[in-house]
Amino acid sequence: MAYLDHAATTPMIDAAVEAYVAAAREVGNASSLHRPGRLARRSVEESRECIAAALGARPSEVIFTSGGTEADNLAVKGIFWARRAAAAGRVRIVASSIEHHAVLDAVEWLGAHEGAEITWLPVDGVGRVSPEAFAEALGDAGDVAVATTMWANNEIGTIQPVAALAALAATADVPLHSDAIQAVGQVPVDFAASGVAAMSVTGHKLGGPVGVGALLLGRDVACTPLLHGGGQERDVRSGTLDVAGIVAFATAVEASVKRQQEHAATVSALREELVARVRAAVADAVYNGDPVNRLPGNAHFSFPGCAGDALLLLLDAAGIACSTGSACSAGVAQPSHVLLAMGADDDRARSSLRFTLGHTSTSAEIDELIAALPGAVDRARRAYRPAPGR
Ligand SMILES: Cc1ncc(COP(=O)(O)O)c(C=O)c1O
Repeated sequence: MAYLDHAATTPMIDAAVEAYVAAAREVGNASSLHRPGRLARRSVEESRECIAAALGARPSEVIFTSGGTEADNLAVKGIFWARRAAAAGRVRIVASSIEHHAVLDAVEWLGAHEGAEITWLPVDGVGRVSPEAFAEALGDAGDVAVATTMWANNEIGTIQPVAALAALAATADVPLHSDAIQAVGQVPVDFAASGVAAMSVTGHKLGGPVGVGALLLGRDVACTPLLHGGGQERDVRSGTLDVAGIVAFATAVEASVKRQQEHAATVSALREELVARVRAAVADAVYNGDPVNRLPGNAHFSFPGCAGDALLLLLDAAGIACSTGSACSAGVAQPSHVLLAMGADDDRARSSLRFTLGHTSTSAEIDELIAALPGAVDRARRAYRPAPGR
């Protein structure tokens, strides 16, 4: 199988597997006072220090969660609730229109159930939020509870001007959250230097396990908990800590940040090869996203006249694993909200495929893709029927 879906999840690195297994053999609740508990606590705190050092944060700013979805929900809902509790007029959320569903749906839920007013930020044709649009959306900002714009987009790979956006948010005294889940280990990420108030990270996109992540939360940023219980993480997050997961996560964060430059150079060279060969194989393929300022492993195309999901299944049958941005609702593929926000029409937004490379990728996998792609595109075109109702 050619695995071209590293943005969905990437294989764990050996060091993280080994760290996980060694820690999983030990017993001890990190909140217990006895010796096994204290040893577990020490592993957690060393992991916290390691992640903080790798990502430019203080250890006390690292709040462990069950992954990216929880970190995003905690940031968006928790900061919204805390800021509105401090000043009732703060009911607005400023969010980019190309966020991952973990942010997008949390924002929409606050709109539907908590009376939040939402200002969606537009993006340009390559999926970039402009600082000017952000400044305009903030307005005088007195009514803004929280703003959120991702570091790099999971679908089209475009990297956002996070530091410029954070500077505007700081001037307006609005906490900015950034979902950096696709960015860590791919591009330089420094929490303190970026100026964001909160930042989400997850293990399984950078060589660690699924089900563990962190919200980096500035020490002075108030955040109301989502989960109530033992208050293990700064009273902001409750739940017995997953010591083995945390140790493996820290191992992967440290390794991915250390190797980031080398990884980016290798993977972007492979990506360039993939892009050139896809274009040569399918002349009318449209390359989406920022051609320059994008994640090193991301190549995203629309194939005119094809349904992305049909193409995905044809490639799967040929041994190629990739992804489409479109979600499925009631059996009907929905167009990608990211491409629609970038101004793509419905057909282009339904005809896209994402190929993402990572630390195990090889040129041989690109050979396999190129051998299968033209035939799959031909078949998908012949089978193409517009979605019902259009
Ligand atoms: C940008 C982004 N945010 C959030 C998530 C969710 O993270 P997790 O799978 O750890 O819940 C993902 C993973 O698909 C993602 O790519």
